[in-house]
Amino acid sequence: MVTTKAPEDAYTAEPFVPGPGVGLTALRKAAAGCRGCPLHRDATQTVFGEGKTSARLMLVGEQPGDQEDRQGKPFVGPAGKLLDRALEEAGLDPADAYITNAVKHFKFTRTEPRKRRIHKAPSLREMTACGPWLAAELALVEPELIVVLGATAGKALLGSSFRVTEVRGTVLERDIHGRPERLVPTVHPSAVLRSDDREQAYQGLLADLEVAARALG
Ligand code: URA
Ligand code: SF4
Repeated sequence: MVTTKAPEDAYTAEPFVPGPGVGLTALRKAAAGCRGCPLHRDATQTVFGEGKTSARLMLVGEQPGDQEDRQGKPFVGPAGKLLDRALEEAGLDPADAYITNAVKHFKFTRTEPRKRRIHKAPSLREMTACGPWLAAELALVEPELIVVLGATAGKALLGSSFRVTEVRGTVLERDIHGRPERLVPTVHPSAVLRSDDREQAYQGLLADLEVAARALG
């Protein structure tokens, strides 16, 4: 009997990613047409990374949220506002960072048609599919330090055994796509917003970002 591979096994952004040597504008333009996994179908648009390719710091989140999906820019909603505040307080200039997500399309569910869109965590398969975009961004920006925002970003960059509670606020040195990288993991800013003790959670995020600021020098 002939067995056919389920098409979802083949989810990958790879055929849409331009070869090495292209700039950020070309990369972003190509990503706008990515059909590497089914997430592009229901989302409004690809939300690619933002910032200068000369940035010393790269921040990696999970996936765009509702606001990001509408505006086409990462971290412009409530989580982004909180993140900006924490970055500034830690002495890191948000304008001098490149900010992106592990997954470039918004994944959501709706309880009823026309009702509010509720964020849904991307699957490992979708994260893996979208990985070539993050790899291309890393190759282009060559950051001195990566701040890993939460479990999805951690799994995308460091593998599925990543546990944010075990490594947050520490400087990790890892080989990623053949390049030695330094990374500081922390919680996702949305987790701070959801926390029962927001102030304590915020102080935790801030302390981790201060580790990143010191590591960057
Ligand atoms: N959460 C993320 O992980 N990324 C965004 O861009 C917005 C919210
Ligand atoms: Fe492509 Fe990533 Fe969007 Fe999937 S989530 S369609 S891999 S850009």
